[in-house]
Amino acid sequence: MYNRRRFISFIGKASLGAAVMPPFLSSCGNTSTPSEAFKQTDREILKRLKKLVIESLNPSDKDALLLTKGLNYHTVIKWGDKISNDDTFGFNNDFTCFIPLNKNNPKDGLLWVNHEYPNPLFVSGFNYRQYENPKEYRTIEQVDKEMYSVGGSIVRVKEENGEWKVVQNDPLNRRITAHTPIELNWDSPIKGKSTVIGTHSNCSGGITPWNTFLTCEENYHSCFGETIYDENNVPTKVPSRYGWEVYYDYPPEHYGWVVEVDPKNGSAQKHIALGRFAHECCTLYELEDKRIVAYSGDDKADEHLYKFVSSVPGSLKEGTLYVADTINGKWLALDWDSQPPLREKFKDQTEVLVRVREAAKILGATELNRPEDIEIDPITGHVLVSLTNNTSKNDYHGSILKVEETDGKFDSLTFKASNYLAGGEENGFSCPDNLAFDLSGNLWITSDISGSAMNRGDQPYLPFKNNSLFVVPRYGEDAGKVIRVVSAPRDAELTGPWFSPDGKTLFLSVQHPGELTTDLENPTSKWPFDDDGIPKPAVVAITGDLIEKMNKLSQIESQDG
Ligand code: FEO
Ligand code: CA
Ligand code: CA
Ligand code: CA
Repeated sequence: MYNRRRFISFIGKASLGAAVMPPFLSSCGNTSTPSEAFKQTDREILKRLKKLVIESLNPSDKDALLLTKGLNYHTVIKWGDKISNDDTFGFNNDFTCFIPLNKNNPKDGLLWVNHEYPNPLFVSGFNYRQYENPKEYRTIEQVDKEMYSVGGSIVRVKEENGEWKVVQNDPLNRRITAHTPIELNWDSPIKGKSTVIGTHSNCSGGITPWNTFLTCEENYHSCFGETIYDENNVPTKVPSRYGWEVYYDYPPEHYGWVVEVDPKNGSAQKHIALGRFAHECCTLYELEDKRIVAYSGDDKADEHLYKFVSSVPGSLKEGTLYVADTINGKWLALDWDSQPPLREKFKDQTEVLVRVREAAKILGATELNRPEDIEIDPITGHVLVSLTNNTSKNDYHGSILKVEETDGKFDSLTFKASNYLAGGEENGFSCPDNLAFDLSGNLWITSDISGSAMNRGDQPYLPFKNNSLFVVPRYGEDAGKVIRVVSAPRDAELTGPWFSPDGKTLFLSVQHPGELTTDLENPTSKWPFDDDGIPKPAVVAITGDLIEKMNKLSQIESQDG
């Protein structure tokens, strides 16, 4: 019999009043309701979990994807692989999410994969380092190649004989790119348009209760620049890094949104009500009355944490966007109608949402140290937010922030914020980024030490070596410890951890191996060691005895079932 209270007291987390995990997540991996697995065998399971020893990897600067004992990997898909007669897999894969096509078969479904940004040297053959004013030398063909390399991919994947493979030419396989027309889910046009061109800078994301994908536009200013305003409210356009605006004069205001993609037909929409900023991710919770709460962090130093609460069921348009004052534990409404200081500065709610960073600061939102991924602990209901670092405030190693909504209500307007886990040498990790809970409630964390800081000279990141994946076990003698279980190839970052619905596979992106390469003849990484010697971002499937044991609860559930 499903008994959450029994489960919670059993593992010593007695603080929870009601089931916290959105039920929709239990059918699509990443996080689930662990208590479902707890039947009559509790003591037996705990005994086994307590005995589970996870060997920690030492920090490594090797050009290899290293895994601790009990884990194996195989590559599912990599940059440039064909997904259909017309399309290939994009570059720099980040957020990765799997939805089974049929709830009863966890081995056949759709992978959504974000493609965050191009490395022109690899993608278009353009070497910025050769030119003093690189943008003057760009060709439209190069820009088009870069625009095709970003956005996202939908690919059908199946597991056979322990190996995940892409189903070539499946009718559901498709690309979304920086050239794809996308509607705005809003009543007023933005810069004259209700349909805009493309998505890019797609970092992390999320999933909806109605089984669509959310992909988040993070460092959008790199592609078409940004509009900034002086003290007299006079706008200036700041040019982008990649210079796409040289050929495509798209307004910066069309980017920096949460984008929803329907896997069935590839249609996409940008959710204006969730505000415009460097969205790292978007983590949804469905309330009992089907209204939606959406958490999202702005990954820029001294920016903010936001949550949207819908006023009608299933909407990502009707409702209120709030920003966090973590010092006083208050969610501040970014609402033009009810906030006089916002009425003074902005002409309407659309302008508040487009310039939401400025609006948040006017209301007194707390500056945070680069909020990245957000997950809801399936057992406690606490909202965990990675704060990756903020060197301008001498926070080199980051931390994980814990938000406890008042009375465990996700639509509460008050909360308590505290430090959950600090990065640094003592805990063995630095710069936390993506988070994922497995089916048993263990927490998995990836790190994102920037390529330019990793393995360099005498600086604070040296002891950590290559970026890695860590696990924080919830049970047993190592409960609460941060254990390094996968080490990335050179210059790479591990992103998008996502568990298959049966908890037996961890999908993981290996992003930007060899990022610091300046000469294609002599790349800084050769992973995944293709014949051409060129490093390639790829999605891997991690399986093995250790994942199976850590997800013991779900395994026993399926054996009993
Ligand atoms: Fe694209 Fe905030 O990491
Ligand atoms: Ca990230
Ligand atoms: Ca996550
Ligand atoms: Ca990051």
